[in-house]
Amino acid sequence: MKQEMMEIVNQVELAPRIFEMTLKGELTQEMVTPGQFIHIRVPREDLLLRRPISLAEINHDNQTCKIIYRVEGDGTRAFSHCQVGDKLDCLGPLGNGFDISMIEEEDVVYVIGGGIGVPPLYELGRRLKEKRANIYFLNGFASKDVMYYEKEFSELGSLFIATDDGSYGTHGHVGMLIDDVSKKTTKPKAIYACGAPGLLRAVESTFSDHPHVYLSMEERMACGVGACYACVCQSKKDPNVNKKVCDEGPIFKAGEVMI
Ligand code: FAD
Ligand code: FES
Repeated sequence: MKQEMMEIVNQVELAPRIFEMTLKGELTQEMVTPGQFIHIRVPREDLLLRRPISLAEINHDNQTCKIIYRVEGDGTRAFSHCQVGDKLDCLGPLGNGFDISMIEEEDVVYVIGGGIGVPPLYELGRRLKEKRANIYFLNGFASKDVMYYEKEFSELGSLFIATDDGSYGTHGHVGMLIDDVSKKTTKPKAIYACGAPGLLRAVESTFSDHPHVYLSMEERMACGVGACYACVCQSKKDPNVNKKVCDEGPIFKAGEVMI
């Protein structure tokens, strides 16, 4: 983990309120595991807490990484006002990341994302493609307007899209895609998911007896490095045990924590 003033080398609005930002710096060399995040200081004196944002793409060749974020409040709004050439104080990479060690060539893998949970799944997809896995992406969005990275995901594997309002792809939530895709494939070697709690719960219950189901959790964070206990969630096996999402997560195996 390092702290660095990373330079913004690109920033584009992919969809209303959804931005892709490219950051450049030596910190990129530390970024090795998909599913990790960086903790970014908001360039405003009055906002003291950093904001955690997942790594959507890592490029060691040119020392850049991409993040994709949705403007929610003051912090992310401040990021969206940043210009190319500005620098952001980044701490990272943080968190454990997705375990893909068991994946071998031709293995079927399901990668399931909802809304702003989709970004870390892009770097995950790139790594799975390097391993020549047979990847099925199941992405859900509220509507066509807020959809992004259709082409990018299609280049890595088979992409299935659902929208809540039916404006694109399957009408309904992303969980509905699981049944369709299951009919088309052999049993997946692993399932990876990132999104709202409802999505994670649906994935957990659908694959309840599967040994390799990995869920990326979100909690509001303060320190981001395991020191303050702001981000805890409850262990499923022992209610007296709390797990720190920033440090022991954000990826947990299904059944490990309460969602
Ligand atoms: P605030 O004013 O702090 O909050 C605005 C609204 O967002 C409030 O309703 C608040 O309750 C809600 N909110 C804030 N933080 C969270 C959170 N962590 N989880 C759920 N709701 C929250 N967002 C992205 O857009 N792209 C990402 O790749 C991404 N990766 C993340 C990775 C991790 C490990 C975590 C924990 C969060 C991630 N987030 C991501 C969520 C992002 O951190 C929050 O949206 C951001 O901190 C909000 O800051 P803000 O100042 O704009 O809004
Ligand atoms: Fe401080 Fe997780 S945010 S322990």
